[in-house]
Amino acid sequence: MAGPHVLHRHPFTPFDESPSAEAALFSAMPIPAEITPQIVGDKFRHRLGTFPVEIANWLPRDAETDLTIGLKQKLLATRRDEVVGLQPGGEEVAQEAAQLVSQWAGVALSSTGINALAEASLLVADDLAVLQPVESQDGVEQMLLTAAVVCCPSRWLLAEKMGQNMFAVHAPVAKYADQVGAAVDTYFQRLAVDRPVWRSNWIIQDHPALFQPQIPSSPLVTTPDELWIRMERQTLRRLPATNGILFTIRGYQQPLPEYLSRNKQIAQVIRTMLERLPDDVAHYKSVFTYRPSILNWINQFC
Ligand code: HEM
Repeated sequence: MAGPHVLHRHPFTPFDESPSAEAALFSAMPIPAEITPQIVGDKFRHRLGTFPVEIANWLPRDAETDLTIGLKQKLLATRRDEVVGLQPGGEEVAQEAAQLVSQWAGVALSSTGINALAEASLLVADDLAVLQPVESQDGVEQMLLTAAVVCCPSRWLLAEKMGQNMFAVHAPVAKYADQVGAAVDTYFQRLAVDRPVWRSNWIIQDHPALFQPQIPSSPLVTTPDELWIRMERQTLRRLPATNGILFTIRGYQQPLPEYLSRNKQIAQVIRTMLERLPDDVAHYKSVFTYRPSILNWINQFC
């Protein structure tokens, strides 16, 4: 066991708790095909990879929505400090983001400010992170993370990200600043009201908990068939009144062997991506120590 991680196979139980007995019956929903990674180009590169999304399909419900909302309810009731973040001045963007979600879900809110954001976060499975335009002393406007309800962090601490700009938020992400940092900032300036977009990412992990703020201090499993693949469907929406941006994050998990068994092409994409990952990015994606054994094992799926 590495640090506080309790090894289990139930994504909706926090990483440091033991699941209930009925969680043993859990079987993961297949990760939605639309968000699975595709090979672009002939070498690794971080990309914006954004696509327009219809507002009707902004934060869709699926078979794991209620389980994810159940996890959020529990975390908000028992570990609120770890999942809610607010910076001075963030109340207004928090409330505008909350209203956007509640109007979309067709449910009225009974609270205001950051409490409204927490309330709205229970209407959808997605985490809600709100960026606010703030002018620095030299007159440059930056988008800072000033309000958030994040119950499914993939090995990062919300408290460490609050009040930061995009470069600082992504400081641990190898090659982010070189390959995509400036493009993200420019993209945010151009994001139009009522033209939401989505993007996705993927990572291989040795623990499936959706609430997993900490990086384990050493590998948790010994063989590749015990690993999980985790993907996030993220969306971005401009807030018309405050000019902030609502960033939503929805986490999915599937056991790696189940995911690779879906079809040969899916398995080949993961093999190619793993082969191409530069070592520093493989470290960041927590797959560096597992990569040789995965590459020895994955061909049976390809
Ligand atoms: C188009 C916009 C964005 C792009 C292209 C982007 C890109 C990335 C990439 C490449 C990673 C590494 C994970 C991976 O390999 O996929 C990452 C991690 C992360 N992103 Fe973003 N991101 C974007 C927007 C945002 C926003 C708006 C937030 C606001 C909260 C955010 C918060 C994070 C955090 C907290 C991590 C984990 C950092 C850590 O490990 O400490 N990202 N992002």
